[in-house]
Amino acid sequence: MANVTFVTHDGEKHEAPLTEGTSLMQIAVDNAIPGIDGDCGGEAACGTCHVVVDNAWSDVVGTNDEVEEDMLAMNPEREPTSRLSCQMTARESWDGLTVRVPEFQI
Ligand code: FES
Repeated sequence: MANVTFVTHDGEKHEAPLTEGTSLMQIAVDNAIPGIDGDCGGEAACGTCHVVVDNAWSDVVGTNDEVEEDMLAMNPEREPTSRLSCQMTARESWDGLTVRVPEFQI
């Protein structure tokens, strides 16, 4: 089974199963990952699902669309590989994906 690892700001690692076709936010919420709340339900309207994608994975998972970009632009913890995890639809080929949860969200 494919897995994704969420790393909290203190370095703690939380592994969760990747379900093809499910948003990374929903996977995080279903697995009680600290700091990923998904308050807007995946509408790219709250920013509580912000993750920073590991550099090695940024090309694999793709880039932001315009709506996602607008929300990330308001986030002070935004980094070059930031994404809204609700806009990332998981694929089995992402097995081993690592993302970091910004400190502000914990
Ligand atoms: S869940 Fe609200 S922006 Fe992703």
